[in-house]
Amino acid sequence: MKTYYLTAVLFALLACNTKQKKQEEQKEPATGEKEVRTSVTREKFGTLPDGKEVERYTLTNTNGIEMKVMTYGGIITSLKTPDKEGKTGDIVLGFDTLEDYLQKVPYFGAIIGRYGNRIANGKFTLDDTEYTLAQNDGKNHLHGGNKGFDKVLWKASEAKVDNGTALKLRYKSKDMEEGYPGNLDITVTYTLTNNDELKVNYRATTDKKTVVNLTQHSYFNLAPDSENILSQELQLNADAFLPVSKTLIPTGELKKVGGTPFDFRQSKTVGKDIEQQDEQLSYGNGYDHCWVLNGENGSMKKAASLYDPSSGRVMEVLTTEPGIQFYSGNFLDGSLTGKGNKKYGFRSGLCLETQHYPDAPNQPDFPTTVLNPGEEYNTTTVFKFSVK
Ligand code: GLA
Repeated sequence: MKTYYLTAVLFALLACNTKQKKQEEQKEPATGEKEVRTSVTREKFGTLPDGKEVERYTLTNTNGIEMKVMTYGGIITSLKTPDKEGKTGDIVLGFDTLEDYLQKVPYFGAIIGRYGNRIANGKFTLDDTEYTLAQNDGKNHLHGGNKGFDKVLWKASEAKVDNGTALKLRYKSKDMEEGYPGNLDITVTYTLTNNDELKVNYRATTDKKTVVNLTQHSYFNLAPDSENILSQELQLNADAFLPVSKTLIPTGELKKVGGTPFDFRQSKTVGKDIEQQDEQLSYGNGYDHCWVLNGENGSMKKAASLYDPSSGRVMEVLTTEPGIQFYSGNFLDGSLTGKGNKKYGFRSGLCLETQHYPDAPNQPDFPTTVLNPGEEYNTTTVFKFSVK
């Protein structure tokens, strides 16, 4: 009887341990007082219609920044950072349940691929072979197609890092999945450092020539209780942007931002020029364009800085990518109700999607997005959080 009882307890403990695994990984450098630790915990978030289980991980750094990521779409479901008073708030848009994420969602928090942004007419050619992709945005292809990387189940594992906590997500995209050639092996690593940075590293290899352009589609609002992001101040490290056609495909021109509403070289509120009479703004119903970042493609450089005067929150974006799509949430219309019953109205969140230029597979003058067998795709973007 006693043995039976002990075995049962042991089993219960083991089950508990697999369900909710907590690892305390690293100690705060000896400041004397309280010992603060980083941690990663895992929980079940829900079940997909095909019966597969979705997990959600919580990453915490030594300064109390907390990020939740689920294995479906690699979606960041929440990101809590302190304001200037030290009060924590969730600065990304999202939902409370998996079911909500399975409805038609505009890519909240997700990893985007195989090709982030648009490919004109859903077609491109590599070595004389034409590939046809889903036309899921009018006649264009958007964000990897009908079932892009935002809608697949990623395999997660914790990774050891020196100065924080990290989660590795892996996905194998089959040859011709969504029309793209080559078996693509992708690893995205989210690292939350104790310097209050979220580092996103994207790596991929292929067994056949293909195109790749990976990005992260979080919608930020540094003032979570505010209606919209129009009074937040944005700076973009870009002297030029890519004008687009009516269907948001770049025309090929690199246009200087000087004298246009697209000039964010000096920090200004998102709302300052957004209502100007401007053909480009009318095509996007606001900002939905790719800026050409100053500095070298492939080297880490400052891309953007977002500041919310009410909370004091600052988010800087650094990247090895040559471009950044700044999307001011123009398709949000109040029809989605998110976390804590908040209605996501017009421009209630903004995206800063670091990436290669849209439609690069059809525009030979743009930096290439071609990945060959034997090469490694490897880009990094850093979101750094602070207050002022
Ligand atoms: C990107 C696109 C936008 C829009 C959003 C999702 O940012 O550039 O046009 O499709 O994704 O709604």
